[in-house]
Amino acid sequence: MKVLVTGHQGYLGTVMVPVLQAAGHDVVGLDTGYFADCVLGPQPVDPPARGGDLRDVTVEQLRGIDAVVHLAALSNDPLGALAPDITHDINHHASVRLARLAKEAGVQRFCYASTCSVYGAAGDGLVAEDAPLRPLTPYAVSKVRVEDDLTALADSDFTPVFLRNATAFGFSPRLRADIVLNNLVGSAVLTGVVRVLSDGTPWRPLVHARDIAEAFALCLTAPADVVSCRAYNIGSEANNVTVEQIARRVADSVPGSRVDITGETGADPRSYRVDFARARAELGFEAAVSVADGAVELADAYTRYGLIAADFAHTFTRLARLAHLQGAGKLDETMRRVSEFV
Ligand SMILES: NC(=O)c1ccc[n+]([C@@H]2O[C@H](COP(=O)([O-])OP(=O)(O)OC[C@H]3O[C@@H](n4cnc5c(N)ncnc54)[C@H](O)[C@@H]3O)[C@@H](O)[C@H]2O)c1
Repeated sequence: MKVLVTGHQGYLGTVMVPVLQAAGHDVVGLDTGYFADCVLGPQPVDPPARGGDLRDVTVEQLRGIDAVVHLAALSNDPLGALAPDITHDINHHASVRLARLAKEAGVQRFCYASTCSVYGAAGDGLVAEDAPLRPLTPYAVSKVRVEDDLTALADSDFTPVFLRNATAFGFSPRLRADIVLNNLVGSAVLTGVVRVLSDGTPWRPLVHARDIAEAFALCLTAPADVVSCRAYNIGSEANNVTVEQIARRVADSVPGSRVDITGETGADPRSYRVDFARARAELGFEAAVSVADGAVELADAYTRYGLIAADFAHTFTRLARLAHLQGAGKLDETMRRVSEFV
């Protein structure tokens, strides 16, 4: 299958492309490259590109593609809060435009990277896909709107599928420091202290980046009548953990480190525990990597590749990286490239 992966130079895309290639797919990418040079360890080999900014994609660029894996986005809650209008423009408007053009070009399947944060403050019970959606941030709102608008585009020739991913963790050559496990392992390796700024009580469902990639691979080939317009939570109940539990597992995995829960940012309203039964039953998906194994993998990679604190705080932190590119005049106020990033 010829698969276009948007956001292929992001944290998840860089892990996903080789997984899809290994499954036999012919992969091409589309990415504006905000993080293309933000690499820890060996430089990844990218697939050929079919375009840059998502907002400029054309129907011609989509011809000959069988399926789209749509990852490109301003991708997390703090980024969305920084620039709600641009988040709407890229994450919602440009995503729906991409899907419309893809359908026009004859693309048959559209696998969309949604998020479990669409459930918002869901309390202590397990939330399944039919639970009420209470998105708390512009980022999460954009994900709900895209799911709705893609549903309206579905027909017998166009199959949208929504993968509501848990919060990712794990090593990617294009590392992210601003997701909870990756961040806490960095804190442990670089300072010896696993520093938690919240009170540690919120529930967070976690999932390894490779497991997300495997879930997309399954969605590309699952029968259309099963997956069309279906949302799937992607993760595992075993990895529904509180921030404090994550911190303790990190301290267990990084010798000599200790936990410090400062509580300085207070309680976090984003708290939810997620039910993953539907993806197990309908896709045969089982997440393989535990939080503890992910912590060990990350600590090994950080040490092996000589991670330094300045890169952790800037190069690998989305908000800092994009602010740097804007401050250096390389991105305009709408996050469009105005010059080369390097
Ligand atoms: N990482 C997570 O924990 C997580 C959890 C749930 C869902 N998701 C979703 O998965 C997807 C990928 O996440 P990620 O962690 O790899 O994010 P990321 O920020 O690392 O990568 C996103 C990629 O999209 C590209 N991009 C952004 N705006 C673009 C535009 N206008 N045109 C072209 N490319 C553009 C960026 O350059 C980047 O390479 C996102 O849609 C995200 O919302 C991620």
